[in-house]
Amino acid sequence: MTTPIAHFNGQLLPLDKIHISPLDRGFIFGDGVYEVIPVYGGTMLRGREHFERLQRSMDEIRLDNPHTVDEWMGLVEKLLEHHPGNQSVYIQVTRGVPPKRDHVLPKGLAPTVFMMCYPLASPSREQVENGVACITARDFRWEKCNIKSTSLLGNVLARQLSADVGATETVLIRDGFLTEASASNVFVVKDGVALAPPRDHLILLGITYDLLVKLAADGAVRLEVRPIPEVELRSADEVWLTSSTKEVLAVTKLDGQPVGDGRPGPVFRRMHALFQEHKARLAARGKVPA
Ligand code: PDD
Repeated sequence: MTTPIAHFNGQLLPLDKIHISPLDRGFIFGDGVYEVIPVYGGTMLRGREHFERLQRSMDEIRLDNPHTVDEWMGLVEKLLEHHPGNQSVYIQVTRGVPPKRDHVLPKGLAPTVFMMCYPLASPSREQVENGVACITARDFRWEKCNIKSTSLLGNVLARQLSADVGATETVLIRDGFLTEASASNVFVVKDGVALAPPRDHLILLGITYDLLVKLAADGAVRLEVRPIPEVELRSADEVWLTSSTKEVLAVTKLDGQPVGDGRPGPVFRRMHALFQEHKARLAARGKVPA
């Protein structure tokens, strides 16, 4: 089996030829940020928006961006030449390799840039048609969840709670309000109106979240962005997960209880159709970024 080609600090190399120093602050402190971009038939879905969010994450952690958005887009295009078809592009930038371990931010360090691709695993037809089961847990993460940081231990431990019981995601509740899930955003539907939690520091503002808000507006689906109390989550007619890999996926069981009638609901089906149409339009446009 040939080793996949990845990007490391400006070079394209086989993945097994890339070596990172143990002093890298990404390894020592989890001091880095990342993005995951879905690619359909060679075209990034909202690539520009992903790199704009990368910039916001870097601003939050006071890390200088080594590339402009256009440069990033070009680097991904080059990597994609080695990875045809539907892909997930993973991009990670850490603060680099200082001479010694010290919490204080070092000056003048070159960041470490790493990118790899793997085949995009979109939800199966069975998952789309039947929905998935999730559990809830207390959101025990920090208060800067808006940063797409590689320090993901809180998310990893939260996700494991659902993995332990064979569920797809862990939906998180902080101080009586829905935040998001361990690796996805969460929407709920009540009486035909879709609800999304506020765009604040307690969630990662998903690129898919933003796309759904836009598709809902274009498709005349009623949607409100506002705090969602836990009781509204538990009495919702529909609950959805959204992310770059899950697209939009219905949650039909929450903590063992059916959500609504236990089937993916009509608002989900409408949003799923709008999302698939958007993807199809993207693929038809070829390499032109959307
Ligand atoms: N996760 N919230 C969290 C905590 C996430 O990790 C993600 C994405 C999202 C959705 O963001 P987007 O729509 O931009 O993918 C929300 C990615 C896919 C991951 O870590 O693999």
